[in-house]
Amino acid sequence: MVPALIAVHIVSIVVWIGGVVFVTTVVFPIIMRMDDSMEKVMFFQGTERRFASIAKASVVVAGVTGVLLLQIEHRWGVLFTWAGIGPTVMLLLWAMFVFMLLFESNIFNFLFGGTAQHDTKKIFRILTTAHWVVMLASLMVIAVGVYTTHIMLMR
Ligand code: HEM
Repeated sequence: MVPALIAVHIVSIVVWIGGVVFVTTVVFPIIMRMDDSMEKVMFFQGTERRFASIAKASVVVAGVTGVLLLQIEHRWGVLFTWAGIGPTVMLLLWAMFVFMLLFESNIFNFLFGGTAQHDTKKIFRILTTAHWVVMLASLMVIAVGVYTTHIMLMR
């Protein structure tokens, strides 16, 4: 059961974080090269909204499998300890994504509504930086998760 859960967990992480990497390193540079502000916003919202549904499904699968792994192995106690640094950072990153996906439309409305509409260049610079931060944090969580699991297996 545990190896199967880890396999499903990893597949969902690959789909989800792979999408984050694609949006950050491919979609954003394309948007930044567009001249027309309206075209920028439409392209961004179209891509991000389409990806959001894929991300939501992956976040649910990753969360359910992650929780089941802790439950089956009776390892809830490792959270917020050094020995459980891997699952702890995974849980924190997961919670941040859940928050972002739940309030996604509010964030879009705030960014692209009202007076902010006039400064799309600035908004996309902020969004690019935010995506880089989230992408690097996600890759770091994967590295920490794999490193800590395998260092423990070698002991
Ligand atoms: C509710 C959220 C999550 C929980 C409770 C959770 C929990 C777990 C648990 C218990 C394992 C088994 C290995 C271990 O104990 O270290 C695991 C494996 C793993 N998780 Fe998560 N996880 C969650 C979300 C995530 C996220 C968001 C990522 C990456 C962005 C991630 C990446 C990984 C990776 C790469 C492994 C494989 C480690 C290995 O065996 O090499 N997990 N997770």
